[in-house]
Amino acid sequence: MRIETDILIIGSGIAGLRFAIEASRFAEVYIVTKKDKAESNTNYAQGGIASVISPDDDFELHIRDTLYAGDGLCDEKVVEFVIKEGPKEIQKLIEIGTEFSKTENGRLHLAREGGHSRNRIVHAKDLTGKEVERALLNKICQIDNIHLLENHFAIDLITEHHLKPKKLKSKKINCWGAYVFDIEKQVVHTFIAKCTLLATGGLGQAYLHTTNPPIATGDGFAMAFRAGAVIGNMEFIQFHPTALYESDSDYRSTKPAFLISEAVRGFGAKLRLKNGEEFMHKYDPRAELAPRDIVARAIDFELKKSGDKFVYLDLTFKDKEEIINNFPNIYEKCLEKNIDITKDFIPVIPAAHYACGGVVTDLNGQTSIANLFATGEVAMTGLHGANRLASNSLLEALVFSQYAAYRTEKILKEKLYNIPEGIPDWVDTGKLTTEEKILISQSRHEIRDILWDYVGIVRSNERLSRALHRCKLIHEEVKQMYHESKISEEILELRNLINVAYMIAFSASLRKESRGLHYNIDYPQKDNLNFLKPTLIQNPAVLQDF
Ligand code: FAD
Ligand code: SIN
Repeated sequence: MRIETDILIIGSGIAGLRFAIEASRFAEVYIVTKKDKAESNTNYAQGGIASVISPDDDFELHIRDTLYAGDGLCDEKVVEFVIKEGPKEIQKLIEIGTEFSKTENGRLHLAREGGHSRNRIVHAKDLTGKEVERALLNKICQIDNIHLLENHFAIDLITEHHLKPKKLKSKKINCWGAYVFDIEKQVVHTFIAKCTLLATGGLGQAYLHTTNPPIATGDGFAMAFRAGAVIGNMEFIQFHPTALYESDSDYRSTKPAFLISEAVRGFGAKLRLKNGEEFMHKYDPRAELAPRDIVARAIDFELKKSGDKFVYLDLTFKDKEEIINNFPNIYEKCLEKNIDITKDFIPVIPAAHYACGGVVTDLNGQTSIANLFATGEVAMTGLHGANRLASNSLLEALVFSQYAAYRTEKILKEKLYNIPEGIPDWVDTGKLTTEEKILISQSRHEIRDILWDYVGIVRSNERLSRALHRCKLIHEEVKQMYHESKISEEILELRNLINVAYMIAFSASLRKESRGLHYNIDYPQKDNLNFLKPTLIQNPAVLQDF
């Protein structure tokens, strides 16, 4: 089927939905999403949204905390822009029906998280993402000119690459929509759009241990890379310090590790070694409330020293009722595993959580490809630098989605698009054998192991070179499988995962220093002279399948 529309949005998390609501004022909007409409990283967000609300807080403090966490690589004008928009975005979420937690006197309840010098996390108990996603989806369902299609998997962006003969007169690449696999009907549709938004979220599933749900296979990063967009800072992968450790978990499963929110440490919880000793004060004067890179590295160091599999998070000295009232979801989930967090220590380990890098955009979410926008976790806006401050990502998604929509309004009004004749439909002649299915699943496991072992919390030149070498081999195998197989979600995700793994390992090998989330034992110091800048990469074989 061929569908022509004003705007195509790929992804139905906070970024895609916020953009859709704004764009529906002036355009016909299609949203395609690869699974159920609510299935997204957004839906699992716990802690909340950072915003300056409290009378004892101000923009300067939030800006300072964000810059400090970002370790020299934040874009200061972006930081200022996003933080100043924060309170308005919270107000908009409230207007569309989001129910945030309140204090007894009816004000927003503000929690604390690592790296924040004030209480400024707006939240809905410990289920903030679920509540925001519910409210946004509820609003979307009331808008007639938004069409939301579940089980629709975007394969590739449509660019000059697909025209026959390839029209590559100028270096500027244009995006005219995407090829989208309809999983239920098993056919590929051609979506032709004047503007396209990538809102495909994160890539945690490229790592063996992650807090991210199975949808987070980095599809948007890979699609943009293949199309020739500029991609930045892929080496800065954030590891959340406290994912629940489960001794019986199937390590091959794509099921995410359950997160124990940073708000639990903000509430006063202590990290302890297996023998009960506290250790964070040895690493940072802010102890448990130091930024995530510091806490995750400290845990990693202690685990390597002791040989233990986990450390403990201890809340047992806090009031039982307050614990249950603030963290009902964490309390229930842990209880299912026979851990009563009001009485027992919680076993925790770090897990891959968030991609600070991504598709490079300007203040309007515009990428280096004409009429292609990227917002949310897939984008690199300059807000996070070398390390994201807790709860700044939902905020970033809201602000940039709104401004990207403003920009597309101008593009549509002024007709700043030029969709060519002759965009072909997709042809799929491949077959999928049982043997290929097995190989696809094994390659996926290999990639997750490679990134975890060689491009994890602590890196070295030797480990990075191994990772790159192995990624190249797997890429060759996947490329062949992809060209010979029938289209399936499995082969598409594998193709994206190997693209993303390569980008992370390659970017990490370019940064010969340690900064923020990137720690290389061969270069333990910061090198401001050579590396006080983002790592930018672009597919060397633009318009070929990497
Ligand atoms: P997502 O919410 O992940 O949405 C991506 C969408 O794209 C999904 O609908 C997905 O199905 C779809 N998609 C992906 N690929 C394709 C494709 N090929 N075709 C079609 N559709 C596709 N951040 C905070 O600021 N505060 C928090 O408290 C917080 N807690 C978190 C807790 C957890 C457990 C996790 C995992 C993350 C947390 N984060 C938090 C990070 C934050 O949730 C994410 O960065 C944010 O939700 C990303 O929003 P998004 O809209 O960009 O992507
Ligand atoms: C958390 O609740 O710890 C996650 C917050 C975040 O990732 O910003």
